[in-house]
Amino acid sequence: MENIAIFASGNGTNCENIIRHFENNDKVRVTVVVSNNADAFALVRARRLGVATVVVTKSQLADESEFVPLLSEYAVDYIVLAGFLLMVPPYLVKRYDRRIINIHPSLLPKYGGKGMYGRNVHEAVRAANDTETGITVHYVSNVCDGGDIIFQAKTPVALTATPEEIEDSVHLLEKKYFPDVIEKTILG
Ligand code: GAR
Repeated sequence: MENIAIFASGNGTNCENIIRHFENNDKVRVTVVVSNNADAFALVRARRLGVATVVVTKSQLADESEFVPLLSEYAVDYIVLAGFLLMVPPYLVKRYDRRIINIHPSLLPKYGGKGMYGRNVHEAVRAANDTETGITVHYVSNVCDGGDIIFQAKTPVALTATPEEIEDSVHLLEKKYFPDVIEKTILG
């Protein structure tokens, strides 16, 4: 069995989709959801689905001697970032080399890096009048949004689309592809 920890900071639609996707899987399961935000709705979604949750501060995450035992408690093999807004500390990137997977709501390298998350990304796509956008699933490295790309999918952007509408179409892509891409990445 391969155990996933999902790290999430916000609403948690991806978190919920991933938990549901692996619910009846006998090779992969989600053992814990970790958040830096005690009010994250992702935590409510996880609890409703019977998955353990943990809230950590930025400094607890940064402390290897404190955080690694926590991951061991849940026998974590892979970490999936699903709307997680903190940088993963270098010790974790090293320990989980090519076993930390992130989703980013744009076609990286476009609209990546510090400050580029959630709605900000879709506003930037709108402001640039891009005719397409999409999602990028990638391994996490020490460069923000800079790790090797695993998968991308595109969606057209109408000239009249608002940032909210762009966000909705990106969420649809995330729902359609992200859990499957995680499964294929883990199981090969
Ligand atoms: C998702 O669109 C995800 O791609 C994005 O945050 C959203 C979280 O939504 N991630 C980033 O912007 C990371 N830089 P969710 O909480 O409903 O899954």
